[in-house]
Amino acid sequence: MSGEGLFVAVEGIDGAGTTTQIDRYAAALRGAGRKVHVTREPSTGPIGTFIREVLGGRATLRGGPGWDLMAHLFAADRLDHVRGEIEPALREGAVVLSDRYDLSSLAYQSVASDLSLPAHEIVTWIRSLNRFARRPDVTIVVDVTPDVAAQRRRRRGAPEDLYETDALQARLAKAYLHAEVLVPADRVVHVRGDGTLEEVEALFRAALAPFVEPAG
Ligand SMILES: Nc1ncnc2c1ncn2[C@@H]1O[C@H](COP(=O)(O)OP(=O)(O)OP(=O)(O)O)[C@@H](O)[C@H]1O
Ligand SMILES: [Mg+2]
Repeated sequence: MSGEGLFVAVEGIDGAGTTTQIDRYAAALRGAGRKVHVTREPSTGPIGTFIREVLGGRATLRGGPGWDLMAHLFAADRLDHVRGEIEPALREGAVVLSDRYDLSSLAYQSVASDLSLPAHEIVTWIRSLNRFARRPDVTIVVDVTPDVAAQRRRRRGAPEDLYETDALQARLAKAYLHAEVLVPADRVVHVRGDGTLEEVEALFRAALAPFVEPAG
């Protein structure tokens, strides 16, 4: 952290409101004179762009988008994202707000996985794939009930992607409630995300206040 910016990962199920809250928080920080870099995973780099095509059904993997192959792609995108975008922004002193990071890999790939393997083996393997991905200074988990997230996704009206089935999202919500188990060495702060935009915004800001010092 010293002399550098702050790396914040923001996580939650689809429709939790992470993108909305990141945009609001970024605007508030910029208004206070802070340098901010907003980014997301899958990233906008070459590997991340390919992953989005697979998730949206516009690119096809010959053996199908298996959870194990997807875990490799996400991990490769992450290193490209860290080295090509996150670390340069941190060196310039920015607060980097990443809409998803490796907690998403741990949560999504473990619930989308082949259930013949014990969950802890899958988690250990995904952690090792991400062994060299820089740790966030803090991870914010926006927790919402699966019903609220499903309503928001429907209202938003975008086409459902590979992971947006209600059954999978319900299992994911549970995994995020216990996010500490997935990243035991990281600093994780939970924000209740079921409230109004303004209510969640206030909780989000309060959660990050101890980490983001006011502009000098
Ligand atoms: N607190 C809230 N109350 C009501 N509506 C909300 C709230 N937060 C977000 N929304 C709306 O719900 C929809 C989903 O929000 P958003 O896109 O921020 O979710 P997300 O977590 O980024 O989803 P995804 O993971 O799919 O990108 C948007 O239409 C947004 O305006
Ligand atoms: Mg989003």
